[in-house]
Amino acid sequence: MGFAEILAQHQVLGIEIAYLYEVLIAKCNMRKQVKNNVSWVGYLDWELQTFHGDEYSIGNGSSQNAYLIEEEKTILVDTVWAPHRCEFIENLKNELGGDLRRIDAIIVNHGEVDHSGSLSALLREIPGTPLYCTANAVKSLEGQYGKQGWNFNVVKTGDELEIGNGKKLVFIEMPMLHWPDSMATFLTGDNILFSMDAFGQHFAVGELFSDKADQNLLWKEAMKYFVNILNPFAAILSRKLVELSKMNLPIEMIAPSHGAIWRENPMQIVEKYAEWANAYKEDQITVAYDTMWQGTEKIAHRIAAEIHRQSPDTVVKVFNISRTDKNDIMTEVFKSRAIAVGSPTECNGILSSVEGWLAFLKSLKFKGKKAAAFGCYGWSGESVKLLQDRLASAGFEVVPEAVRCLWNPDEEDFKKVGEMVSSLLQ
Ligand code: FEO
Repeated sequence: MGFAEILAQHQVLGIEIAYLYEVLIAKCNMRKQVKNNVSWVGYLDWELQTFHGDEYSIGNGSSQNAYLIEEEKTILVDTVWAPHRCEFIENLKNELGGDLRRIDAIIVNHGEVDHSGSLSALLREIPGTPLYCTANAVKSLEGQYGKQGWNFNVVKTGDELEIGNGKKLVFIEMPMLHWPDSMATFLTGDNILFSMDAFGQHFAVGELFSDKADQNLLWKEAMKYFVNILNPFAAILSRKLVELSKMNLPIEMIAPSHGAIWRENPMQIVEKYAEWANAYKEDQITVAYDTMWQGTEKIAHRIAAEIHRQSPDTVVKVFNISRTDKNDIMTEVFKSRAIAVGSPTECNGILSSVEGWLAFLKSLKFKGKKAAAFGCYGWSGESVKLLQDRLASAGFEVVPEAVRCLWNPDEEDFKKVGEMVSSLLQ
């Protein structure tokens, strides 16, 4: 049970302790101006360590970005994760002079809980407020929160909502970026694309804007996010980028739902996504393995040395699967033109660490990469064949050259390393 859930079970004078706690720290996440009458009113999550349960590691914080547009109509774009709902709503109330009823409409770009998690609590305060979302979002929201009679207004690509002062919101369906219910919203006049998960990063940037962020971390986190969350939908993304381009939106700013807002040259992240979504690879080979008694580890290190011997300019990375964060290894796999994966044979199979890692590898749907297998064994020796099968089913072009080594590797095995590396480099 998490801290928020424990607090939620306790009350003082009938008020949730969680609520009192959130109100006390509410001043930490005040509004920040994005542009003209558009403000960030989200949650900057310095403490977050994992996302999607424990599937995604967070190394530099994150944020759930929500936005407030105050033209003739006041529009809230998305909310934040449920554990932060009290602070979010309290802040919002303060920013609106104590009157949440000033919100004319809520744009729900995506139903996943990190963005919709405060809706139930918010709509208890302002029931009947119109929600604008896709048809799939209605299914998603009612599926997660039940049928509460919310005032849904279903929109499709190209639909518009006038918000006064000559400005309007234009909706763009973005199915599978990241869920079937996802959409983006474009604000005319200010020319801001609220892009939802697309173009985001799990990265806490207090200064809000990409041009103020640490550039190394920004691009590292943007790529890690793309690889581990969006790469399975790369083909859909490529088609959507073409569609977006044909809409000729005069985008001046891209405001995603996580991390920094792309302010200076916002199309740089769009161009990078187009490159990443097209079977991206660099001149790199990644070696990933696990080992029981260091035999398979010795082969891994020999493979790395051999890559450097045969191709000195090729970047080589070596990771022990049990000891290295899987999201970080996958980001290196994404950058690689080939990988070598090793496991000893254990009980007619491969190590469970490698089995789980390969399942995750398959789910990310990498394209256009070669792979090779290696591993030690003592008697039955199935691991190399199993690894080759798993890698082929994960979409890799598996080279036939492999290193299957009885007990510990000797010079004969190391000769096979040379052949395997040569095949990977071709
Ligand atoms: Fe950030 Fe798909 O939610």
